[in-house]
Formats: sequence, structure tokens, C-alpha cells
Amino acid sequence: MPKQTFILNGKPVTVDVHDDVRVLWVLRDLLGVTGPKYGCGINVCKACTSHINGKAFNPCSVRVGDLKKSDQVTTIEGLPRESPGPGLHPMQQAWLDHDVAQCGYCQPGQIMAAVALVRKVRREGRKIRDNDLDGIRNICRCGTYTRIREAIEQGARQMK
Ligand code: FES
Ligand code: FES
Repeated sequence: MPKQTFILNGKPVTVDVHDDVRVLWVLRDLLGVTGPKYGCGINVCKACTSHINGKAFNPCSVRVGDLKKSDQVTTIEGLPRESPGPGLHPMQQAWLDHDVAQCGYCQPGQIMAAVALVRKVRREGRKIRDNDLDGIRNICRCGTYTRIREAIEQGARQMK
């Protein structure tokens, strides 16, 4: 079987798996990284949202063979190391402060989408607006959308 190498949460990892296996299964089943959740498997629900090279992606829809050795994959488990200081990433802390989660299943993906969105609007030289929040497509079957929006606004203010 081919060897697949990429960087996961700051450390190189290598797995023996066929090229066409989706990254979500490599993370969850082979590497034991279960923060990214399986909802639809077809890039619709966004429960698996993680980052590749700092931008949001959905690992259920990317073949592991398409990753490069230098690609940096970050899951919710690796998010705290991307902010200065010990403890949680500011977006995770905002989630706790606003008591966002209900069942919690969608929430790792929501937080990863939120961080990627804040970074994107900053690259564009602006602050987050309501229509940016409207563009988030992560589904929450518990309907926590109002608290998600409040938490993103706090997290955005506190992200360095
Ligand atoms: S499981 Fe990846 S988008 Fe639904
Ligand atoms: S908190 Fe239950 S699906 Fe979002």
C-alpha cells in the first residue's frame, strides 16, 4: 500500500493507505483524531471542517493521495497551538463563554469554520460582518445558530 505523509497538528505523520481514501477516514480511523465529525461524507454538512494550510477544508471530500508532504492539516485538537499562550484558542473560549454547544456534534466544525472565516476577512483587510456570518454553511441540527454568531463575534475580537 502507498505511504501517505503530511503534517497533522504540527507533526509529520505517515500512514499506509490507498490514495483514494478520504482524509476524514485517515484522521478518524487510522490516526485516532476524532474531532472532525462524520455527518454526510459528501461535503454538504461541514461537520468535518478542519484547516489545510490555514484555510477551511472538508476532509470527507479530499483524497489522501492528493495531500502533499508539506501540507499542514489542523483539526480542532491542534487549534490551541495556533494561538499564543497556554490554554484554549480564543474562539474555543468564546464558545464556552456563550455556552454554544447543545449536543455538540457539529461544534468542532463550526469553530474551525469560524477561525478560518476570521482569518479570511483579515486577509481582506476588514472586520467580520453579518453577511460573512450568513455565509457559513455548517449545519447545526440543534439550532444553535444565534449563539454561534455571538461567539464568533467575541472570538474575532480576541484573536491575535
Ligand atoms: S462529513 Fe464532511 S461535509 Fe459532511
Ligand atoms: S449542537 Fe447539536 S448539531 Fe449542533
